[in-house]
Amino acid sequence: MNDAAPNAAPQTFYLKDYKPFGYEVESVKLTFQLSPNATKVHSAIRFTPKADAEDNRFFLHGEQLSLISAKIDGTPVTARLVDGGLECDVPRTSFLWEAEVEIDPAANTALEGLYMSNGMYCTQCEAEGFRKITYYPDRPDVMSTFTVRIEGDEPVMLSNGNPTGAGEGWAEWHDPWPKPAYLFALVAGDLVNHPGSFTTKSGKDVELNIWVRPGDEGKCAFGMEALKKSMKWDEDVYGLEYDLDLFNIVAVDDFNMGAMENKGLNIFNSSCVLASPETSTDANFERIEAIIAHEYFHNWTGNRITCRDWFQLCLKEGLTVFRDAQFTADMRSEPVKRIEDVIALRARQFPEDGGPLAHPPRPEEFQEINNFYTATVYEKGAEVIGMLKRLVGDDNYYKALNLYFERHDGQACTIEDWLKVFEDATGRDLNQFKLWYSQAGTPRVKVSEEYADGTYTLTFEQSTPPPPGQPEKAPRVIPMAVGLLSPNGDEVRATEVLELTEAKQSFTFEGLASKPVPSILREFSAPVILERETTNSERAFLLAHDTDPFNRWEAGNALAKEVRVAMVLDGAAPDAAYLDALEKLVRDDEQDPAFRALVLSPPSQSDIAQTLHERGHTPDPQKIYDAAETFTQTLAQQLETSLPRLYAATTVEGPYVPDADGAGKRALNGRILSLLTRLDGGEQAARQYASADNMTQQYAALAALMKAEKGEAQSKAFFEQWQDDRLVMDKWFALQIACAAPETTAATAKELTQHPLFSMKNPNRFRAVMGALAGNHAGFHHASGAGYQLLAENLIALDSVNPQTTARMCAAFQTWKRYDSKRQAQIQAELERILATSDLSRDTHEMVSRMLSA
Ligand code: BES
Ligand code: ZN
Repeated sequence: MNDAAPNAAPQTFYLKDYKPFGYEVESVKLTFQLSPNATKVHSAIRFTPKADAEDNRFFLHGEQLSLISAKIDGTPVTARLVDGGLECDVPRTSFLWEAEVEIDPAANTALEGLYMSNGMYCTQCEAEGFRKITYYPDRPDVMSTFTVRIEGDEPVMLSNGNPTGAGEGWAEWHDPWPKPAYLFALVAGDLVNHPGSFTTKSGKDVELNIWVRPGDEGKCAFGMEALKKSMKWDEDVYGLEYDLDLFNIVAVDDFNMGAMENKGLNIFNSSCVLASPETSTDANFERIEAIIAHEYFHNWTGNRITCRDWFQLCLKEGLTVFRDAQFTADMRSEPVKRIEDVIALRARQFPEDGGPLAHPPRPEEFQEINNFYTATVYEKGAEVIGMLKRLVGDDNYYKALNLYFERHDGQACTIEDWLKVFEDATGRDLNQFKLWYSQAGTPRVKVSEEYADGTYTLTFEQSTPPPPGQPEKAPRVIPMAVGLLSPNGDEVRATEVLELTEAKQSFTFEGLASKPVPSILREFSAPVILERETTNSERAFLLAHDTDPFNRWEAGNALAKEVRVAMVLDGAAPDAAYLDALEKLVRDDEQDPAFRALVLSPPSQSDIAQTLHERGHTPDPQKIYDAAETFTQTLAQQLETSLPRLYAATTVEGPYVPDADGAGKRALNGRILSLLTRLDGGEQAARQYASADNMTQQYAALAALMKAEKGEAQSKAFFEQWQDDRLVMDKWFALQIACAAPETTAATAKELTQHPLFSMKNPNRFRAVMGALAGNHAGFHHASGAGYQLLAENLIALDSVNPQTTARMCAAFQTWKRYDSKRQAQIQAELERILATSDLSRDTHEMVSRMLSA
């Protein structure tokens, strides 16, 4: 046994062990006396035992608290401090619990509970951070009203709900809506607000504010508009109105996640709310709009109706991701949003679902819940809702949602409650459908076809590879959207949703004059891997003719993958027919620029690795990189004569507007610039860099130059220009690593960790560097193992500072088993090194042991 690895297996929590809390929490009153190293928190909580309360002892969660005093009904009591909280003997009738604790926000680098960021106090309580603020039944099914008094000399002191009074050195807040503790928030500091207002459909005026550090006021207007659009959209589409007189958003620089939906007081990572044309790219603007919507939408799907326990996390996150995707589709372009989401799903969720971290959208066990805010819970959770909607139809979907809000408002619910409203609203039996929530793994669907005498038959065979040693999984309900095209490109059958429920199933289409070309899994109607023998010419046909825009892109994407896979496996040259098809499309000014940009963006190298793996090959990262380089270079040469014209034609003139239209054009323009830079020695990119008046174009030019190793001067200039802007500097850090060649990636990243502006304490900066390292496929997986080593070293160093971010970033190793034995051995050694670290956090311990044990 290794003595250096004393980390005992931490406690595992199981869904099947759920028991309700034995007490009602009637009300909560909190008083904070703020002080950076010694904040005092006084709590006064009224508990009433439920009829079936087991005994007269209760347990409250609490971590990293110094208990000063505890009283029941005004009389001091002795509480027993136990692992993770305290136990106390309590009366069998309603009683008032009071406790005073002391905490140290300035020392809180984990950024969970009450902490300080840039001199400002703020909180993050989801999932289990409230227990670091005071002793409490810190579970989402315990809901209560909160009254908060903040004492301190900060100019602005905020909490949830409505302000009820303020004076010199104090402020009071009351939130009338019962809520679980994870939605509690407090912010105090030197803040300025960008105000706005919204009148709800029933005529209520709501005051809106975005609170930022002085100096950032000019970056709030876009977020404010996004908030108003979200409020309007939720009324129009779901009939849901805001329910307080005030809605506050605060931007903080040090934040583990993107943003948090605390009732009436959303807290945002500043990267997810601050925006200006000079400092933010089109992609930033789109993300900010989406995340503001997401957190706002939680007010109903998460806050008014919350989760019974954390196993039900996808009840709020899957649904809210689904709703924010609908919103973005409505505000921007539906097919573009769908394509972006499928790219992300395949890049993040498919590898998770096929590797050692696989889990169902509703997991049944966890050690550290923070490790389950995953692509599966979020993105697959949203896909499952999309499938439900397709199966029951739009009208039934909204009927079921209305019933959900009517029946469960004010409750803490489960996936069973969610499915029951669909069953009751539609009369449908969802037992088999429920497998999507309980089974991990991405189903594969094999398609074959037959045509004779006007009858066309499609046969589908589904299977989900079970983890080693486990039985074959039962077939699922798979909505398969299919359309048929005639060989001349006309649609002969409009989209129809076929319902797969069996392991093998056939569907026939009668009365067809000739053998049709099928367009299968339109809109990506289910999160599955489609396997079908087909030809590149049929893919090219669909790329040109499919009436479903998603599948048109998908045909091009499949074609691109085939070409690249052939290049990697057989050393083939880039397919000429494919290059011709690309050229035709990029030159076709009738086509949507955003769509052209997407088709022109090749599948990522990790996507090719994933595809090779799905087909039973061991991916060689260097070969994948070489194929990508050859392909892009060949494409640039093929387009050589048209590139200058295309560049000019797609350049967006006039003032920068961050709308979908402009963003699509700039995306295409950026793609063309990167191709052009391979041929003109960087002349055009240097000109664009020098003249750009917005970050999208400045960044695109810098990226093109750095990729071509021609951007040294511009990179320096960029640093000089933006060194005082944290968010722009994150781009600068990340870009150097993203653009590095495989053999220099780790060294580049290592050097940047020595930079005076690198920091372990700021998650955005750490992610900019280490995330870019892990995201550079060939660099991270370079045969030297230097990438693995550097990441592991930094994760070990970060773990004692910020376990949550460390654990999340460990997932960069999750695909390790798909590589060759040498790389596997290198990664295994790094994972074992992490695991052997003394005092490793529960978060990281769980992630690494799951990756090692599968
Ligand atoms: N509730 C989460 C934030 C959260 C996650 C807090 C994990 C604590 C632990 C929030 O609603 C969320 O989902 N945020 C996402 C962005 C969203 C657009 C998917 C995030 O922060 O990445
Ligand atoms: Zn969320």
